[in-house]
Amino acid sequence: MTVKKAVIPAAGLGTRFLPATKAQPKEMLPVVDKPAIQYIVEEAVASGIESIIIVTGRNKRSIEDHFDRSVELEQTLEEKGKNEILEEIKGISNLASIHYIRQREPLGLGHAVLTARQFIGDEPFAVLLGDDLMMAEKPALRQLMDVHEQTGTDVVGVQHVAPEDVSKYGIIDTRTSRGLVYELADLVEKPSVDEAPSMIAVMGRYVLNPSIFPILASLEKGAGGEIQLTDALRKQCTVSPIHAVSIQGQRYDIGDKFGYLRAGLEMALSRPEMRGQVLSFLNGLCGKIAVRQKTHL
Ligand code: G1P
Repeated sequence: MTVKKAVIPAAGLGTRFLPATKAQPKEMLPVVDKPAIQYIVEEAVASGIESIIIVTGRNKRSIEDHFDRSVELEQTLEEKGKNEILEEIKGISNLASIHYIRQREPLGLGHAVLTARQFIGDEPFAVLLGDDLMMAEKPALRQLMDVHEQTGTDVVGVQHVAPEDVSKYGIIDTRTSRGLVYELADLVEKPSVDEAPSMIAVMGRYVLNPSIFPILASLEKGAGGEIQLTDALRKQCTVSPIHAVSIQGQRYDIGDKFGYLRAGLEMALSRPEMRGQVLSFLNGLCGKIAVRQKTHL
C-alpha cells in the first residue's frame, strides 16, 4: 500500500539548544534561510506524502504561522514587485495538507506518534524526526517507502555511527542483510557501547504499519521515563518482520550545536549563489588560523 500520510513530532522542549529555544521552537531555527522543519516537510512531499500531521506542544504557534498563508506579506511583496520571493512564500503554504495536534504531556516519541492515531487511521504512515536533516539525491524517506512498497513491513532508516555515539540512538541487531536492506532481529534504545548489538543507528525516518498503535498504547515508560517508539518496534519485531534501510545521503543532527553549524555551512555550500562566498570565507579563515598557530609555536 502506498504511504500518503506522515507524522512529524515537534513537541520537544529543545533543551539542548537553550537559550535560542527559550521563546521559539527549535524546529523554527533557520538553516541558511529556511526553518529546519521546512526541510523536513519538503523531504516528505518530495517522497510522495500528501498529508502531514505535526505533533506540537506549547510555544509552537510559529510553526503553524509558517505553513499558513501570510496575506499582508504577500500583498506587500506583490506591490514591491518582489515576484521571486513572493512565489516562494506562496509555495510554502501550498506544500502539503498540514494538520496539527497537541501532545499534552511530554511523554516521548512513542507517545507523540500515538497522539496522531486518529488522523492516521488504518493505513501505513511515515514518521520524520526534525532533528535529523537529510541531504540526499533520492529523498531519505522515499528510500524507506520503496522498501515498504516491496515488503509491506515496518521500515526504519539507519546509518553507521562511531562507537562513542551509539548511546545517543536506537541501535539495531540484524538477522540478514541484502544490499542496503537488513532484516531486524532486535533493536534497543540508547544502549551503552558495551551492550550495543551493532554500530547501526536508527536515523529519524520510519514507515510504520498501523499495527504499531495498539503496541504503543500498551507500553510502559522506557528509557528516560518516556514511551519509546523503539520499544514498540522491538515488540513488533517478535511477531512480524521489520526492515532497516541504510539511508544514502548526508545526515545532520541539528539538535546538536556542531551538527547545526555543519548543516548551515554545507547547505550554504550547496547553493550555487552562495558557494563562492562561503568557500572564500572558509579559505581566509583557515589561513588566519594557520598564521595564528604558527605565531604561537
Ligand atoms: C530518537 C529515537 C532514537 C533515534 C533518534 C534519531 O531519539 O528515540 O531511537 O535513533 O531519535 O535521531 P532522540 O534523539 O529523540 O532522543
